[in-house]
Amino acid sequence: MGIGYLESEFESKIVAQQNQKWEDIKMCELGCMERRVDPVMVAKEYYLSVLNVQEHISLDISGKLGSLAINLDREIPTFLKDRFNLVTNYGTGEHVNNQYSFFRNIHELCRINGIMIHALVPIGHWINHGRYYYNQDFTKQLAQLCGYELIDYFQSQKYVEKENTDLIMVAYKKVNDSPFISENEFYQNIPILDTRNKARTGNYLKNTKNFSLKDAVMNKFKRIKQTSKKIVILLRDNAFPDTRLNLLIKEGVNCPSTSNDPKEKLFLYDEAVEHIKIGRFLEVGSYLGSSAIILAEALRRNSQSKEAKVYCIDTWENDSMLEGKKDTYQQFQDNIKPWQDWIIPIRGNSDEVKLPFEGLCDVVFIDADHSYEGCRRDVERFSGLVRNGGCLILDDHISYPGVTKVVGELLVTGKWYVGNSYDNLIALYRDETSNNFKRKRIKNKIKSE
Ligand SMILES: C[S@@+](CC[C@H](N)C(=O)[O-])C[C@H]1O[C@@H](n2cnc3c(N)ncnc32)[C@H](O)[C@@H]1O
Repeated sequence: MGIGYLESEFESKIVAQQNQKWEDIKMCELGCMERRVDPVMVAKEYYLSVLNVQEHISLDISGKLGSLAINLDREIPTFLKDRFNLVTNYGTGEHVNNQYSFFRNIHELCRINGIMIHALVPIGHWINHGRYYYNQDFTKQLAQLCGYELIDYFQSQKYVEKENTDLIMVAYKKVNDSPFISENEFYQNIPILDTRNKARTGNYLKNTKNFSLKDAVMNKFKRIKQTSKKIVILLRDNAFPDTRLNLLIKEGVNCPSTSNDPKEKLFLYDEAVEHIKIGRFLEVGSYLGSSAIILAEALRRNSQSKEAKVYCIDTWENDSMLEGKKDTYQQFQDNIKPWQDWIIPIRGNSDEVKLPFEGLCDVVFIDADHSYEGCRRDVERFSGLVRNGGCLILDDHISYPGVTKVVGELLVTGKWYVGNSYDNLIALYRDETSNNFKRKRIKNKIKSE
């Protein structure tokens, strides 16, 4: 990631606020950076020749752009420890496999009373960008556990003209000299979403001769050309979401919902279609039927099974909804009327209703009680119903910290990986025949031998 306005302005503000002068700053930059705002140049040159910092060292496994070739997965050399009064991580951490080591290294690079600034990729943004994603809870937990002063933090869009490009900007001051927390404390208390995607970790830039803006653009162009067929299909399907949704579900479009984003509905539809095999979906939390209609339409158009059904669990009493308790069952039934042959309502509390089917489901969609306890209860009861190769979708994994936590817990079990996500919807896949699982099984086997 290069340095844009967001990072640049945040950094200037923090340095001024802390009464630091650039010429007194000894700076360590994690990852070798380019400035992508005026003046566009290698960041190292900018800090040294424009801001006149006292020292600038960048650490990057690639050794490019004048950086020291250091692997941040490992402990840093002693001469770098306690050396800097400004340490910056502008989108490097999510590409480093060993997160504990990465954050411990930052702690050790920084002197007492020094500043640490991060630009972190939030969950739901920068899809397929790196391995890890963070949330605002992360910024607070790290400060609390490590005893840092949390100077400032916020989440904002990096590129105003592009969606899903938020960054979490956070600045800490290292106010005491205690050693970094233990590995156990780190992993148990600090929420990080691990997608296990190693395509862009380690020295993934090794094949690019010159890591420059021009190269980045050219590479992107080549990739687009290679996958142009795929992109044409994507454009046809998703460039006009309202039109596509209208064509798909006609009168179902007007069904009131907790989200009005047509792309969310299309995401649910596409994930459902992709996973149809048995022809059975389970929805926990149906409200007025909007998502049930989407799931039913996916089955109606694509399932070969005569028994294809969406089973919908809800109290239809508006439980845990902001608008308060009311009976919504009649409204649900009216809305789903055109799809009634595909939808089976199961009225009652999700932790006690009896399921009228035996066997597994292609898709389980959980969108009921978004508290940690409620969501976890539903996941514990229903996630096991997802067939191998099937999909578990959770809604509101960004807006509700309880749901975020449950997603994190599911991922660390190693049984699920992030298959896809759009905004607040996340689709976790379960595929025990995939390489991920094979590798894990082999690893466990070696361990037990
Ligand atoms: C966010 S709404 C569902 C929205 C729906 N999936 C859609 O996209 O149109 C949540 C629903 O979950 C139901 N609900 C909440 N807690 C529940 C529980 N413990 N058991 C059954 N239903 C519950 C509420 O009654 C409400 O209708």
